[in-house]
Amino acid sequence: MKPIYFDYNATTPLDADAFESMLPFLSENFGNPSSIHRIGRRARVMLDQFREKAAALLGCKSHEIIFTSGGTESNNLGIFGVSRLMKRSDRNIIVTSPVEHHAALHCVEYLEKYEGFRKILIPVDRNGRVIVEELKSVLTTNADKVALVSIMAANNETGSHQPFQEIGNLCQEFGVIYHTDAAQWFGKESIDSGILFFNADLVSLCAHKFHGPKGVGILYAKSPLHPDPIIFGGGHENDRRAGTENLANIAGMIKALEKITPGPEDSMLFHWKQWIQEIRKSLAPLDGLKFWSSEENSLRNTLMFTFSNQDAISILAALDIEGICASSGSACSVGSLLPSHVLLAQGASETEAKGAIRLSIGRETTGEEIQKAISIISSTLSRIQKN
Ligand SMILES: Cc1ncc(COP(=O)(O)O)c(C=O)c1O
Repeated sequence: MKPIYFDYNATTPLDADAFESMLPFLSENFGNPSSIHRIGRRARVMLDQFREKAAALLGCKSHEIIFTSGGTESNNLGIFGVSRLMKRSDRNIIVTSPVEHHAALHCVEYLEKYEGFRKILIPVDRNGRVIVEELKSVLTTNADKVALVSIMAANNETGSHQPFQEIGNLCQEFGVIYHTDAAQWFGKESIDSGILFFNADLVSLCAHKFHGPKGVGILYAKSPLHPDPIIFGGGHENDRRAGTENLANIAGMIKALEKITPGPEDSMLFHWKQWIQEIRKSLAPLDGLKFWSSEENSLRNTLMFTFSNQDAISILAALDIEGICASSGSACSVGSLLPSHVLLAQGASETEAKGAIRLSIGRETTGEEIQKAISIISSTLSRIQKN
């Protein structure tokens, strides 16, 4: 039985063309871009071309692209790098939301605990969207002390979009720097004006969420912003990220990015939206079932629900037996049964927050799989409720 993979927010299969594009860098093009000789220089030329290609795809300058090891490092570099930079100008407040990925939230918590920063969390509504009025009031009283605002583009668990354009406008109005974690946006939604679409000074991207390889990503840092490095050594990435560049991964990421920029194919965008709506409609009548995002403002491929007071592990195990690979929200907490910090922030009870089931579909999903999944999920939930 071929499993039905409904976990595209955790990771995506590597694109075949991306895979092909990586191969030369795992064989004959093995040079180190920092070497002076011809083999090194050839690698340098390729690295420069990849950076220029990324900049062209994202509509920015090539020196605004920092290659990193993925979404986690992009967030760490953006948050640590800019917060520490701005502290030298006497700014020590970091504004964020309680629904951020831990790759952002834990950076802010560390800075608060050990480096003299104060974090301010902007509350979210029942659908996980930051309340912009609250942000405005925080900026009205604290703007001159704010080092950074970090609020994601779309949530990995619920799929909820944040109002990043309004947030960016507010940050500009109050003269503060805005970082957004867009790891989940690319590959699922379109960007109609390049990276400027996010209206942010710093944007995190993560290749394995859009059919690129794991272990590579981008931090876009709007010129002339120059985050402090968090990894020290050589002068790579314009003194912002030391370490010999992973050209194979970068090659694969750029090929994958090319295929999903400015957005995935129209037919996919259309089907994902329709299919998620269909699942929503079919599950909605079940007694005790709750959805945790709005239909309008969330990733078209994602649906998160809780069911009565059932914990996620038993539902996920039952679905797995039937061949459906789903997730309990943040992949990092799978198996640990920790309540989802995202759902708690949205007003869920502890029990509900331990029961979150996330379905995330993608490029290889078919209509047939959707029909099969609807029938399996409905019968599994009804059976669990009867026991
Ligand atoms: C919103 C978000 N940010 C950051 C990350 C971390 O990315 P990576 O797996 O590349 O470290 C993820 C991955 O789950 C994510 O969903």
